[in-house]
Amino acid sequence: MVKENAILKGDCGLMVLTLNSADCMPTCCGKEMEELIPHVVDTGNEKHKPVITKVDGGILVTCGEVAHPMEEAHHIEWISAHDGEIDMWRAVYPGKKPEAFFPMEKTDITAYAYCNLHSLWGSK
Ligand SMILES: [Fe+2]
Repeated sequence: MVKENAILKGDCGLMVLTLNSADCMPTCCGKEMEELIPHVVDTGNEKHKPVITKVDGGILVTCGEVAHPMEEAHHIEWISAHDGEIDMWRAVYPGKKPEAFFPMEKTDITAYAYCNLHSLWGSK
């Protein structure tokens, strides 16, 4: 069983967002995909939890209270924001800041960030 808005990952690294729930689990490379459950509590020195700041025209989502590394071997791959009606994603790249702007006006927003080494992190 897969739920709506689940982020699934296959062994090969393919990630899929489900747009609805269903009584099955999608497969990739011949195996059922794994639902990524976001971490919400930072531990250790590296910080991942998305921080949402209201800015002019929308929100800015940054990764970690201390900026997450953005090196080729360890970086944030994407950041997303969800306000209950709109889902937005932005890819981020090594060498750039681990942040993304989203033109969203609502205040009840959930953000996610995906680290290539430490998986999925949620703002709540
Ligand atoms: Fe990380």
